[in-house]
Amino acid sequence: MKALVLIGGFGTRLRPLTHTVPKQLIPVAGKPMLYHVLDLLPADVEEVVLATGYKAEVIADYVRHHPLRWPVRTVSEAEPLGTGGGMKNAGGGMSDPFFLLNSDVIAAADLRAIVARHLEHGGVGTMTLAEVEDTRPYGVAALAPDDRITAFVEKPEPEAAPSHWINAGLGVWSRSVLDAIPPGRVVSWEREVVPGLLDGGVYGFRLTRYWEDAGTPERLLRAQRLLFDDGRGGKAPLPRGALGTGPVATAPGATAEGASFGKYVTLGPGAIVEAGAHVENSIVMEGTRIERDAFVGGSILGPRARVRPSHRIVGQTVGEAGEV
Ligand code: GDD
Ligand code: MG
Repeated sequence: MKALVLIGGFGTRLRPLTHTVPKQLIPVAGKPMLYHVLDLLPADVEEVVLATGYKAEVIADYVRHHPLRWPVRTVSEAEPLGTGGGMKNAGGGMSDPFFLLNSDVIAAADLRAIVARHLEHGGVGTMTLAEVEDTRPYGVAALAPDDRITAFVEKPEPEAAPSHWINAGLGVWSRSVLDAIPPGRVVSWEREVVPGLLDGGVYGFRLTRYWEDAGTPERLLRAQRLLFDDGRGGKAPLPRGALGTGPVATAPGATAEGASFGKYVTLGPGAIVEAGAHVENSIVMEGTRIERDAFVGGSILGPRARVRPSHRIVGQTVGEAGEV
């Protein structure tokens, strides 16, 4: 099977960081979000096609320098075509069926089991579903007793949501669904295409362990906690000469002599945390400097940012080279 990965969004909810860093390359528990998503794919996948748009060159360049275990092809859009338009643009040559993955969802999902379910029911699609309290930011499914999806509404008002089971952004689809997408224009897969596919048989596959869309700062940090708790951040011992608890996923060249750490931290290459500073529940990207006695909690610091001595930041997203 092949995989089609949607990776062209603007990451608006993570600005100013995403003005320079595409959302999918933000490191979470030690590696880019995109790489955690791809970790779910079986080893024998034939090809991974990345449907890119915003910051396409940055992503293509990163993937070239950090090779994946499968052959990768990048197909970019000159202008964003939406999720459906991106699928149509990049989906030529897909396998039947194929994996369709959003690139910003952190989940425990057994994609082989989802393929097995897909082949068993014989319909056109299998959509993983996650149960959430607030359905407003998601696509929501109504389900028959056999988990066949009977209605699908993208981002409904709460009173119009047919259930609490939402599109988790990881699925298996027959190649024929690509024929249902009009070519050459912006198309929303969720709004314009999926509802029309339901008659052909689209089934839900309920995820039961954990799932998070990492598209906002709070949810990104929650995704990081989930990954660490599931062991997907590696051993993550404290950096040399540091105190505290961790886990801290420390990239080569990061230093933190005399600094202290709470739980759940990613330190990018060459990041410096000076003595007396404390960091917890945060992402600190490459070359960023947290100066002495500063406190950083629940924050995402872009590349080459700086936190001044004794400064306290909580719940902030700082863009590349930002100073706080
Ligand atoms: N190629 C391409 N072109 N990709 C795009 C474009 C585009 O124009 N727009 C968005 N994408 C990519 C994003 O990078 C992301 O990986 C995926 O498509 C979904 O876009 P988001 O912008 O993150 O959508 P969302 O989170 O509001 O909603 C989607 O995901 C939810 C689950 O996280 C929908 O699929 C919902 O139905 C779903 O519940
Ligand atoms: Mg999203």
